[in-house]
Amino acid sequence: MLAMPDIAFQQCIGTDCAARFDIGQILFSCPECGSLLDVRYDWSRTEVPKSLSLFGSRRGTSSGNAEARLNASGVWRFRELLPFCPLDDMVTAGEGQTQLQHADALAGELGVDAGRLFLQYEGFNPSGSFKDNGMAAAFTMARRLGCTRVACASTGNTSASLAMFARHTKTKSGASMEAIVFVGGGKIALGKLAQALDYGATTIQIAGDFDACMRIAEQTADQLGLYLMNSVNPFRLEGQKTIMYRVLEGLNWEVPDWIIVPGGNLGNSSAFGKAFAELRELGLIDRIPRLAIINAAGANTLCQLVNEHGVRYNGGRVDTNRIEGYYKKMNAEGTRAKTVASAIEIGRPVNLIKALRSLEVMDGVVEQVNDAEILDGKALVGKYGYGCEPASGASVAGLRKLIDEKMIAPSDRVVCILTGHALKDPNATIDYHSGARQKHARFANPPTSCAADFDAVARLIGGAR
Ligand code: F0G
Repeated sequence: MLAMPDIAFQQCIGTDCAARFDIGQILFSCPECGSLLDVRYDWSRTEVPKSLSLFGSRRGTSSGNAEARLNASGVWRFRELLPFCPLDDMVTAGEGQTQLQHADALAGELGVDAGRLFLQYEGFNPSGSFKDNGMAAAFTMARRLGCTRVACASTGNTSASLAMFARHTKTKSGASMEAIVFVGGGKIALGKLAQALDYGATTIQIAGDFDACMRIAEQTADQLGLYLMNSVNPFRLEGQKTIMYRVLEGLNWEVPDWIIVPGGNLGNSSAFGKAFAELRELGLIDRIPRLAIINAAGANTLCQLVNEHGVRYNGGRVDTNRIEGYYKKMNAEGTRAKTVASAIEIGRPVNLIKALRSLEVMDGVVEQVNDAEILDGKALVGKYGYGCEPASGASVAGLRKLIDEKMIAPSDRVVCILTGHALKDPNATIDYHSGARQKHARFANPPTSCAADFDAVARLIGGAR
């Protein structure tokens, strides 16, 4: 048993099962019914600040003592909202020092009123993506459990983040964690592959896509005793809840109207719904924002299931036959996820049921955007001074579509989550701007060639001003 079993426990999300397990049990699904697990808390046994503003005032710099370092973490600053471990055990690598950005110029371009659009730029995390929020929590748990080998399947960012955190986390015997990552051969952006190699992870390129990597990772974890760091690990999602706390902080603890997030394996969507449900339960907010999950059209399982097949969470009574039927058809037709946004090129999102729950909690919608729309969205983010990788461009592209469809009003206060840094996938950016990918890229800024000659340059850029 671990130190805080009376406050934190794991619980099966299956409404008819709801079995409970100690947090010290290594589980990635319910042993009784196979459903996903939540980390849950008995809030009556732990002190939670009465007002969210305390977390803001705690915000620290990384220069002080151990507690100050934790206060500098955008995850552990909110520790009372994920109370599964004592202070001494918390692993940090400087994650979550991200801030909500005002995006007025971009708002104008998208038809959102000035002052109403914000970007939560998670690309500013140490490994360049939102994954670091979840890894801080999952590595904390890995260490507490005495694990020495951690693994994940990845479209690139999870593996980069896992590889980095393994270098920041000592096992109980003082050694580094051993990181093993499974990525689809030729499937991940080069920046991400480079990171896994640089941080020294054992990097295994599987001849297959992400869904195949996920199957292998689960099997390997199960049979070789590796600790699995994908978002089926419920502690990962505890860390990712804090993205929403920082969004609220950026809005002076006011709740926005919409959160827009790209959907891949649906870990973020799942974590966000849980974050808001808990904040409401704790009386820390009085209203919940709406959620828009944006799929790539080439990897649109959630969108299809919700919008075409009417699948709903239904208070926990999900029509799983419809989901199974959909997957059977996918298999029979040989349908594979395919999108330029390689981060979200996923056909069988592992957190599907939790994401359906979030859609219910947050009165959410699902939209899809095609590759050209994704790249235009990404280019707009770059043009207005932020930059992001293609998957993150999906949230902006989705916003444009939802404004056009009048689902979102120009006066709504909207937060788009930018999940990954622009430098993760420079090929996608260069192909877009140089015209290698599509002829009529709307926001292309192609490079110009010129002789090494002053007059030629002056002719090109115009005379002195
Ligand atoms: N955006 C980026 C940049 C991602 O890397 C991912 C997922 C997502 C969005 C989708 O988030 O899974 O929470 O819905 N990347 C995973 C990986 C799958 O392996 O790096 P989700």
